[in-house]
Amino acid sequence: MAHDHDDRHPHGDDHGHHQHGGGDDRHSHGGGHHRHGEGHGHHDTADVDWAEMGPQLEAQAELFAPLYERALAWLAQRQTEPGLIVDAGSGPGVIAGLFAETFPGARVLAVDSAGPLLERARARAGRLGVADRFATLHGELPGALADLDYPADLLWAGRSLHHLGDQRGALAVFAEHLAPGGTLALMEGGLPTRFLPRDIGVGRPGLQTRLDALEAEWFAQMRSSLPGSVAETEDWPALMTAAGLKPTGTRSFLLDLPAPATDRARDHVADTLSRLRDGFGDRLDADDRAALDRLLDPDDAASVHRRPDVFVLAAHTVHTATRTP
Ligand SMILES: C[S@@+](CC[C@H](N)C(=O)[O-])C[C@H]1O[C@@H](n2cnc3c(N)ncnc32)[C@H](O)[C@@H]1O
Repeated sequence: MAHDHDDRHPHGDDHGHHQHGGGDDRHSHGGGHHRHGEGHGHHDTADVDWAEMGPQLEAQAELFAPLYERALAWLAQRQTEPGLIVDAGSGPGVIAGLFAETFPGARVLAVDSAGPLLERARARAGRLGVADRFATLHGELPGALADLDYPADLLWAGRSLHHLGDQRGALAVFAEHLAPGGTLALMEGGLPTRFLPRDIGVGRPGLQTRLDALEAEWFAQMRSSLPGSVAETEDWPALMTAAGLKPTGTRSFLLDLPAPATDRARDHVADTLSRLRDGFGDRLDADDRAALDRLLDPDDAASVHRRPDVFVLAAHTVHTATRTP
């Protein structure tokens, strides 16, 4: 199990795992701190305080809801009546909430190592009116799954597996916690999201492509700095096969929010670019840095807050596999 402690980013959580909801409140094992990062170069060291990312993760998942709804509708054709759905690395629970709505007969368990994100997930479940069949489990994946009372009929890991050092090992544990006939669904990979045309009339064309390259470097650094990091060829169906599962499909889902962008989409674009500016600004050349500064300056008509050509085009890939009965 992955443990780590980073005094710079204390999560302020305890040293045990707790399950909330559905009448359960049990302890399990493991440490309560971690230091992995998403967030596009939030820090040079690839460290991010996940709890601090709560509002941003929630806003992003809400903006991406149409993409998730299509992915979940596709899953609903494969796993028609799951009894227990586990969202491994749920974050603030936007997708877990969509699972609860898509599968009204299912119990949903959101698992994450960031306690404050699970608090958000529980609050959301309350707002959605699904709290009676929604629970959270606080702990480090994949070990936290040892606390499941029942095997999962559907185990979803959306952009979370890549934050675990040993992805192959984690997949094997995910597979062990699937019921016979159950489905594992991994959302990993896809395409870099696009917000702007290639030539934005400010600086050199191709800014987003250059930011993508920096982000890919950050990602590699993030992965290699994870506790117990193992280099792995990211052939997800092959890795699911190695975990004893039978791959059943791969499909990519689009989020296509064309220009003119809504305020919510603009906020997402500005938030993402500002994190890229914070994380990678010093590795960009002066022209690109100046272009990014203009894009982020609300007083500038060329900024993403005001320019008419801002859009959000994203493609995320889902891979499924079943545990044969
Ligand atoms: C990129 S976010 C994805 C959140 C959500 N699945 C989504 O798609 O919006 C990754 C999530 O994985 C969680 N996470 C990262 N490492 C973890 C670990 N070792 N154990 C449990 N959760 C972890 C983080 O706290 C965060 O909520």
